Amino acid sequence: MLYLRKATIQDVASIHSLLLRFSRQGVLLPRSFSELYKHLRDFFVLVDNLDTGLKGCCALSITWENLAEIRSLVVVGDAQGKGWGRRLVDTCLSEAITLGIYRVFTLTYQTEFFASLGFEEVDKEELPQKVWSDCLNCPKFPDYCDEVAMLMDL
Ligand SMILES: CC(C)(COP(=O)(O)OP(=O)(O)OC[C@H]1O[C@@H](n2cnc3c(N)ncnc32)[C@H](O)[C@@H]1OP(=O)(O)O)[C@@H](O)C(=O)NCCC(=O)NCCS
Repeated sequence: MLYLRKATIQDVASIHSLLLRFSRQGVLLPRSFSELYKHLRDFFVLVDNLDTGLKGCCALSITWENLAEIRSLVVVGDAQGKGWGRRLVDTCLSEAITLGIYRVFTLTYQTEFFASLGFEEVDKEELPQKVWSDCLNCPKFPDYCDEVAMLMDL
């Protein structure tokens, strides 16, 4: 049985290797151990009760006043297509509301998935400059960035 919970310090190595694995497919950015320790409180994880490894993760990163980002979203192959991606994002959106943040964006290639959750495509230029701080370290920045910015007003 799978379930979602807040990440703990014991999850960091698994989150790191999960993100590294999917970053090799070019669908998201890897994150360093230092970054993961610093931002561990952003993360929710999908696990099973037999503890046979991490099945997914997702982070809500606060960007600015009334703006947060959905980042590092992964559901592993055998758990995909069962609604866990949606639940991970919904859990992050609920946390945004709890924090009093009502605008959430993501930078993604999975436009249909996020559209099915109610996100709408926006011009990247509409997002504040602060959003781009992580992009500075991305090898695709700025000319080869092909991710789509999507926004939800809660
Ligand atoms: C994208 C991802 C997180 C989706 O997770 P998932 O658990 O398979 O998705 P869900 O089962 O919750 O699907 C939710 C809805 O999105 C739709 N959906 C899921 N993946 C989709 C895709 N690739 N394209 C179009 N629609 C998709 C589902 O049909 C479902 O719609 P419904 O509720 O109307 O039936 C998962 O495929 C994944 O980890 N991919 C690799 C990593 C990645 O690309 N991460 C995103 C980085 S921003």
